[in-house]
Amino acid sequence: WPKDVGILALEVYFPAQYVDQTDLEKFNNVEAGKYTVGLGQTRMGFCSVQEDINSLCLTVVQRLMERTKLPWDAVGRLEVGTETIIDKSKAVKTVLMELFQDSGNTDIEGIDTTNACYGGTASLFNAANWMESSYWDGRYALVVCGDIAVYPNGNARPTGGAGAVAMLIGPKAPLVLEQGLRGTHMENVYDFYKPNLASEYPLVDGKLSIQCYMRALDRCYAAYRKKIQNQWKKAGNNQPFTLDDVQYMIFHTPFCKMVQKSLARLMFNDFLSSSGNTQNNLYKGLEAFRGLKLEETYTNKEVDKAILKASLDIFNKKTKASLYLSTNNGNMYTSSLYGCLASLLSQHSAQELAGSRIGAFSYGSGLAASFFSFRVAKDASPGSPLEQLVSSVSDLPKRLDSRRRMSPEEFTDIMNQREQFFHKVNFSPPGDTNNLFPGTWYLERVDEMHRRKYARRP
Ligand code: CAA
Repeated sequence: WPKDVGILALEVYFPAQYVDQTDLEKFNNVEAGKYTVGLGQTRMGFCSVQEDINSLCLTVVQRLMERTKLPWDAVGRLEVGTETIIDKSKAVKTVLMELFQDSGNTDIEGIDTTNACYGGTASLFNAANWMESSYWDGRYALVVCGDIAVYPNGNARPTGGAGAVAMLIGPKAPLVLEQGLRGTHMENVYDFYKPNLASEYPLVDGKLSIQCYMRALDRCYAAYRKKIQNQWKKAGNNQPFTLDDVQYMIFHTPFCKMVQKSLARLMFNDFLSSSGNTQNNLYKGLEAFRGLKLEETYTNKEVDKAILKASLDIFNKKTKASLYLSTNNGNMYTSSLYGCLASLLSQHSAQELAGSRIGAFSYGSGLAASFFSFRVAKDASPGSPLEQLVSSVSDLPKRLDSRRRMSPEEFTDIMNQREQFFHKVNFSPPGDTNNLFPGTWYLERVDEMHRRKYARRP
């Protein structure tokens, strides 16, 4: 099979408007700091009524193809991961085929994959599996993930967001998916789900969802560690795998504080697996917790406090930079993890990243979760694939800063309009398309047969 399959190029799209979380705290009459410190969120991007999941994905794919200047017939597979469902049968992928029309390329495998925030990762795995199989025809794969994360009025609303990420998958990639190293955990829970097909909003048991995420993290990490240690053993290395073996660590990010706790939790996993006579200074304040089982600690505030303190430096070094987009735009569900990857690349130089391992944890409620990793290419010289990838996302801060700040009243009004227009037929969404970023696709019309027509802002 082809060598070094992974991510060659990456494109991020987020809406052109946001609401500030301090404004939202005041508007919702909650204590100052609850969203900004307690959840770690700064701003939340949200879509106008002219945007839906199809338009988000059209935009991000078009942008990626234009930037990479790839011919449209160079793509042999296109996978979409999303949980923003507007049609129970017709895949977003079929809408994206519109972009390929002029090229005549219709020989493109792949379809939508759905399970909460995990669909993007399942799509990435599918694309890589295709490329490493007998069905691969030598062309590239595109993985697209995107979502509109919205909640009804209440305590989950500040954990919303919206966006999409498109990734070009191919051989000789600067971010290589490490082979044989996926630790997965799946089980049946009702922590966050969308049974109401007439609404964009999920049903969510917030506290349960946090415990499920933590449990999945523990299990996936254990499974990954076992697999990598087995690989190492075969090569004659009997060392245990720890966080020291990943230089950067990215997570699915429902809100940033959760990620800081998750990184701390990985360190706690390492600590509990270590022997009592370890010389590791980081573990000094944790000895009191040595006898505990992981499952006993999900709601233990003392453990939380101690591991957050012990892991602060590691968090600052390995993970903080990856939260840039998440804190400024919010949860993007399937695209959240890949937005973190883009943030990490945008906040570090190619030289800093070269040769490193990036650990990745993907979580989708319900639940499906995996821990896997990327190996970053060693060559960071000017013009190298790694340097090109890193420079392609360097404008992320500038683009985020160019968004319009909307008041909580305007945000609420748009949320109400989205509720009102969801599944409405025979209408054109109101709004000024000049408020969208140039080059954005938008929903122009829904006819009486629910057929959707899209146009592109010049
Ligand atoms: N200053 C500083 N911190 C404050 C504060 C203040 N004034 N007021 C409260 N806080 C802290 C709290 O102490 C708490 O922190 P700790 O958990 O560390 O103690 C934090 O702010 C949040 O406060 P609450 O627990 O009181 O918040 P809440 O119950 O009102 O809601 C939530 C929080 C449960 C996450 C809710 O926003 C929610 O349901 N969100 C959606 C579900 C979700 O995101 N789940 C995450 C895991 S599931 C997943 O990952 C899938 C997915 O994408 C949805």
